[in-house]
Parts: sequence; C-alpha cells; structure tokens
Amino acid sequence: MAARPRVFVARRLPDDGIEPIVAACDARIWEDDLPPPRPELLEAIRGCDGVLTLLTDRVDDEFLDAAGPGLKVVSNYAVGFDNIDVAAVTRRGIPAGNTPGVLTETTADLAWALLMAAARRLPEGDRYVRDGKWKTWGPLLLLGPDVHGSTIGIVGFGRIGQAMARRARGFGMTVLYQDIQPVDAAVEAELGATRLPLEELLPQADFVSLHTNLTPETRGMMDAEKLSWMKPTAVLVNTSRGPVIDHAALADALRSGAIFAAALDVTDPEPIPMDDPLVGLDNCLIVPHIASASRATRGKMAEMAAANLLAGVRGQRLPTPVNPEVYEGR
Ligand code: DGY
Repeated sequence: MAARPRVFVARRLPDDGIEPIVAACDARIWEDDLPPPRPELLEAIRGCDGVLTLLTDRVDDEFLDAAGPGLKVVSNYAVGFDNIDVAAVTRRGIPAGNTPGVLTETTADLAWALLMAAARRLPEGDRYVRDGKWKTWGPLLLLGPDVHGSTIGIVGFGRIGQAMARRARGFGMTVLYQDIQPVDAAVEAELGATRLPLEELLPQADFVSLHTNLTPETRGMMDAEKLSWMKPTAVLVNTSRGPVIDHAALADALRSGAIFAAALDVTDPEPIPMDDPLVGLDNCLIVPHIASASRATRGKMAEMAAANLLAGVRGQRLPTPVNPEVYEGR
C-alpha cells in the first residue's frame, strides 16, 4: 500500500477542512492558538508533501528549502497570498492555492459594518454609555456624517470592491472606483460605478474603502499626500492589508482632523502594538482582522484549502491555484 502523503497544517481549522485532510493524509496539525514560531514551522514541514499555511506563515526560499524537494503543494487558508513568495514557489514548479470567492460577501459585510460604525461613532457611543456618561439626549451628541446619499470611493474594484458597490447602491450612494485592471463596462453600468484616478476620487469621496492586494505598488499607497487629498469629513475603511496605509501618516491625519475617522480590520504589523498612536485615538476603530470571520465562510475556506492541499499531494491540478503558470507545458 502506498504511503499516505505527509502534510503539515499550520493551525486548527474548521472540521470541514480538517476531516478530509486527516482521512487522506498522515497529518500533523499545529494545535496552538498562536502561529508556529519560525524554527518550529521549518522543522515541522521537513519532508512534507504538502503544507497548509495561513497568512501569518511566510513562504519563501527558506521555507521551501526546509520542506525539501518532496514538497508538492502550498495551500493558503486565505484569499490574499502576500505571505507567499509566488516567484519562489513557481521557480520550483510548486503550485500554491488560495480561497477566492467564498469570502467576498462576508468581507464586504464587515467592511460595510466598519463604515457604518465609524460614521455613526458606535464604539464611542458604546464606551460613553458603559463609562456612565449618558445623562440626557443631546442635540450635539456624537454627530457624524450620513451614509445614505453620500459618495463612496472604492479603491480596488475586484470581487470584494464590487460587493461593496452593491451595498452602496442600496444606500443611494454615488459609487466611484479606482483599479489598475480594466473593469467590464457591463459591470460598471450594473453598479452605476464611475472610474476615476485617485487624485480625483479621494477629494470627492465621503467614504474611502480599500480593497487592493498588497503589492510593491500598493504598499504605503495611502501616505500623507493621499490622505491630504481626502475630505476633512471623510472616513477611511481598510479591510485589505495593513501596509497599504502609512500608519504614522494616518495617525497624524486623524489627530489633526485632516480626515474624520478610520476603521481598520487590518494593521501593520498585526497585532497592532498597544503603544501604536492609532490605538489611543477615539476616531480610529480597530478590529482584529476578522472580515472573513463568519462560521459559514471560514468553513468554506477550510474546504477549499483542503481541496487544494489534497489535489496537490495527489499530483492533480489545484482547483484554485495562484500560480497556474506552473502547469504550462506539463
Ligand atoms: C484573506 O483571506 O486574505 C483574509 O485576509 C483573511 O480571510
């Protein structure tokens, strides 16, 4: 009987993913809530046929050398894959997989919740009540901008950006967007979305929501200059990746009133240090990277990540590879 493939799974996942993996493989699962420290990760993947990684695990030449020549697949439990050096895995002919599609609506739901919460100052209101400060109804208490009928600028108009646009339509908002890729005219028409360069989008938007991948081009994209193009009444929402925003510049903009508020699901680094200036600002709402955290979606992500892992160890094409070029000429 052929040996079962050896795999390492870098964290406990929903059963939807773990069960098929354990049924088919000789699997070691990292049981701790924290990610495996680097030396332990490198030791655990030695001689593996497949590794299921999270966005906290860096996959680079060091990782691939540690795994050794038998590694057939890296399956990432995320749609984003900026933790993977795609050129390095591709050079070695190793397919890497991600979990696109299944988290689109759940992520847009959270981005929308952040937008609403920052605009209407929900965390401040909640603290105000719990701190015993609520004495009477106040005409000037915790005022914020209207969401309905305002203008949203969506930066990165892929699946999640478009899902935000659909929500914005329901609130009677004007939808502006920016993307480096062409967007189908039919999609623009259906979503009533207008493409603008950032220098025109940022000054017009009441809400700016970031949905770009993290790439060398988008790292630090929202810097002091771009933030200064935004309205002083505007709210910035980030559910993409923390390093897309220059945190020091954002703290300055929030402190000086150059923008009204920010709402972040992602930070740089993660977790955000408790002495980061953003943590001390009432007009900055921060949640711990939970945009895809619905039970159903995390289950579907686990199923997809397992399907990629199992296809890879069996030498089959991954259902959702990030580097399909590894199959060219096979
Ligand atoms: C992703 O999938 O890239 C998210 O950041 C986590 O779900």
